[in-house]
Amino acid sequence: MTNVIETRGLVKRYGDLTAVDHVDIAVPQGTFFGLLGPNGAGKTTTLELIEGIREPDEGEALIFGEKVWPRNRALLPRIGVQLQASAFFERLTVAEQLRCFAELYAVPLTRIDRMIELVGLEDKRTVRTEDLSGGQKQRLSIACSLIHDPEIVFLDEPTAALDPQARRNLWDVLRAINAEGRTVVLTTHYMDEAEILCDQIAIIDRGKILTTDTPRNLITGLGAAYRILLSEGAVSEEEANRLPGVESASLDNGTLALTTHEPSPVLTALAERDALHGLQVTSATLEDVFLTLTGREYRA
Ligand SMILES: Nc1ncnc2c1ncn2[C@@H]1O[C@H](COP(=O)(O)OP(=O)(O)OP(=O)(O)O)[C@@H](O)[C@H]1O
Ligand SMILES: [Mg+2]
Repeated sequence: MTNVIETRGLVKRYGDLTAVDHVDIAVPQGTFFGLLGPNGAGKTTTLELIEGIREPDEGEALIFGEKVWPRNRALLPRIGVQLQASAFFERLTVAEQLRCFAELYAVPLTRIDRMIELVGLEDKRTVRTEDLSGGQKQRLSIACSLIHDPEIVFLDEPTAALDPQARRNLWDVLRAINAEGRTVVLTTHYMDEAEILCDQIAIIDRGKILTTDTPRNLITGLGAAYRILLSEGAVSEEEANRLPGVESASLDNGTLALTTHEPSPVLTALAERDALHGLQVTSATLEDVFLTLTGREYRA
């Protein structure tokens, strides 16, 4: 698979602070790639170095095999950029805003309706941008970044400050953008968002990439046990301890908690005993991955 983005030893310093510390990233074409890290980790700075907006102190970033710095104009039609703080032209409606971008990029005006539809702003096309909700503004800024049909789109915390429902709606939009064959690079400090959306996640902390892998590999790589929780009385503690695959079973405050590395035989045995009442299964999460890598709790 070809890598459409590659960085080699990328470094950016602000005085004594190394905001981006020898970052190596490779993003295959068509990937939904997530840069996950807490506030101040260096996500935006890394993105800006890749987009060719900032000059690195060391290293280089390549898009489609071409250096992005010094600013490479040939790349601009092929990438779409949504900045963390989106700015719109003043006093324009949604449709007018998109028209400005369409004209700047000299793309057919039919793209405007296509973009409005993609991000679900059909009923807001004549509304001025200052009268949009936070989530609608995020959608519009994504639409603006896509107007020229770029092959790669960079989204810097597109779902920040949205309520859970609005975030989920926007996830559908982001999935659709990726399903059209575009490479998507997203930054987020939400673990669940990275886990659900991304094919590949790079976890960044204090300017350094700690690890890069699929969400599944990151989590299963910990080798952590599954916890199976049952209501008291579903099976007795003694019986639970004898079930195939169960490593431990204990009753605590009305909940019977089993630990296992092999959930399938345990769940099968429980089903045979008609003991699935109140069942919950939990596995390790990306938070556990972060804790293991840094020794610190993840505080977004
Ligand atoms: N222009 C700048 N001048 C000085 N320091 C900066 C500048 N931009 C960023 N920094 C610092 O570099 C570090 C990384 O910032 P960056 O914005 O890349 O983090 P981030 O991961 O995007 O954080 P957030 O989740 O809050 O958006 C931070 O400590 C920040 O204070
Ligand atoms: Mg940021």
